[in-house]
Amino acid sequence: MAHNYKKLAILGHPVQHSKSPLIHKYWIKKYGLDGQYDAVDSPPDTLERTLRRCLKEDYNGFNVTLPHKHSIRSYCDFFDTTSHEIGAVNTLHLKDHKLYGSNTDAYGFSKNLEMSHPDFEWGAGPAVVLGAGGAARAVAYALKDKNVPVIKICNRTLSKAGNIVADMGGSVMPWEERTEAIKECNLLINTTLLGMEGQSLLEMPLETLPSHATVYDIVYAPLITPLLQEAQARGNPIVTGIGMLLYQAQQAFKTWYGIVPEVDNLLIQKVLA
Ligand code: ATR
Repeated sequence: MAHNYKKLAILGHPVQHSKSPLIHKYWIKKYGLDGQYDAVDSPPDTLERTLRRCLKEDYNGFNVTLPHKHSIRSYCDFFDTTSHEIGAVNTLHLKDHKLYGSNTDAYGFSKNLEMSHPDFEWGAGPAVVLGAGGAARAVAYALKDKNVPVIKICNRTLSKAGNIVADMGGSVMPWEERTEAIKECNLLINTTLLGMEGQSLLEMPLETLPSHATVYDIVYAPLITPLLQEAQARGNPIVTGIGMLLYQAQQAFKTWYGIVPEVDNLLIQKVLA
């Protein structure tokens, strides 16, 4: 194996539909780098064994996806601050026989918005987050990191929203009050699966949303979700979810190879195909 050869994989369950192999293989080829990127399926009860086997087989970098983002932390020797605060790791890097855990989801979230709308002002007003799962935690962390003045977490199960608020700040809003919650908001983000192909619709009337507010859906299948369609029809700026996937991958790739790969149009087309 060449000295700079990287043996990389995504660890998850299931992983067969993951776009990560496509993305990272594209960049390895584009930049003429040495390496491979595989998909490794591991149910939760064999995660430790699978990870140990991969390390024995000289894998030296991983992405981690559902359902392991939380549990994988027990096998890390070190974490970065972001993954520590979010409570989830999505990137592993082996260096000097030590496993470093990091989280690039929050970066992916904010970078995507900034690339879509370079003039967007994080500090201009409140942000409302719909949902309180793992994705919402990363989003709330990013909002806090960007000094968003007011963060409202609106979720069906109030206690889950409360857990995020306890760690990241902000306030809890009952799901039933979401129309009220968006009244003065500058940014509305859907982090639930609602609106995704095969899932129920997100019922989020936008009549009370200010006309300048940006609407961001982290769902990217379909690319323009019904929420984004409605926002677009009202003239609100929108952000699609595909870039969050691509920019979290960009940061992970940088962790392994030390270069920032380009999120180009051909890659976007391939991922959406
Ligand atoms: P992830 O970790 O990918 O964010 P998750 O933990 O399954 O996914 O979270 C899914 C989010 O969608 C949750 O906030 C969930 O609300 P609950 O915490 O009340 O379960 C939300 N969600 C799922 N189905 C929903 C529905 N029909 N109405 C409202 N919220 C829903």
